[in-house]
Amino acid sequence: DWTMAAFREQAIGEIRAKVGDARVICGLSGGVDSSVAAILIHEAIGDQLTCIFVDHGLLRMGEAEQVVGMFRDHYNIPLVHVQAQDLFIGALEGEMDPEVKRKTIGRLFIETFEAEAKKIGGADFLAQGTLYPDVIESVSFTGGPSVTIKSHHNVGGLPERMNMKLVEPLRELFKDEVRELGRELGLPEQFVGRHPFPGPGLAIRCPGGITREKLEILRQADAIYLDEIRKAGLYDAIWQAFAVLLPVQTVGVMGDGRTYEFVCALRAVTSVDGMTADFYAFDMEFLGNAATRIINEVKGINRVVYDVTSKPPGTIEWE
Ligand code: XMP
Repeated sequence: DWTMAAFREQAIGEIRAKVGDARVICGLSGGVDSSVAAILIHEAIGDQLTCIFVDHGLLRMGEAEQVVGMFRDHYNIPLVHVQAQDLFIGALEGEMDPEVKRKTIGRLFIETFEAEAKKIGGADFLAQGTLYPDVIESVSFTGGPSVTIKSHHNVGGLPERMNMKLVEPLRELFKDEVRELGRELGLPEQFVGRHPFPGPGLAIRCPGGITREKLEILRQADAIYLDEIRKAGLYDAIWQAFAVLLPVQTVGVMGDGRTYEFVCALRAVTSVDGMTADFYAFDMEFLGNAATRIINEVKGINRVVYDVTSKPPGTIEWE
């Protein structure tokens, strides 16, 4: 019978057979998937692996510190921390189209990985934490017409011509299985239970054009929302929760004055594998408190709305 311990042994064997004595780089996103992939590959090939954490300026508050701390200090896995904020944000500024934004980010990730690979004397393989649902949603559905819903940066978003071959040891797993594998590999429970976070990061939670100012407003609102969710003890009951900064300003009143600021949408869903999802039914008191805190504490937001769309017909992310 099939267990995670058996999967682990089999995957390690397959990684060794595929890679031989070549060098592998692994892009870490801060999410569970790429972390589990990295730890598994490290177990298979040790210091033939170099992990690369790209700070593209599209991360959540405190995320870079958490990921770098965990890999360097807890796991002792060599990690290159690339500061690429100017590169990514510069390329995205003014871009309104969601697919172009995704593809631009995917291309810049690969260029960054290739440049870093060069610095360590070259790498033949790029490892990614691609899961089964990523594969299905990015590639055309079998039988029907060819439809791409979104170009996931770790699948369809890759440029056709890339110098490295892919290693994707989680390609056949669903999220709950990856979490189980993470536990099997000794990842702390609080890391294994983290909500998914997409490679394109906050860029796809700022519909339309992004700016540094908008990203900073979003980062603050998102941190407050998640703080409220943790305090209410709801984090583990929710598959994914995040704030979205809408490209819309509305009129409000603060003291005696008129305000004209952005609208923030809050999203929270339950799901088993991310392929379908239901909106999470918070009680109104929770939502009211979260909205009040965001409006009071974040300069630039004067209105908060809650997204009650399930998937389908909505997707989880807004772009
Ligand atoms: P959607 O928005 O397609 O998202 O319903 C389903 C799940 O996938 C995550 N997601 C991504 N993960 N790279 C990733 O690694 C991506 O490009 C990407 N796009 C969406 C999303 O956060 C949700 O958990």
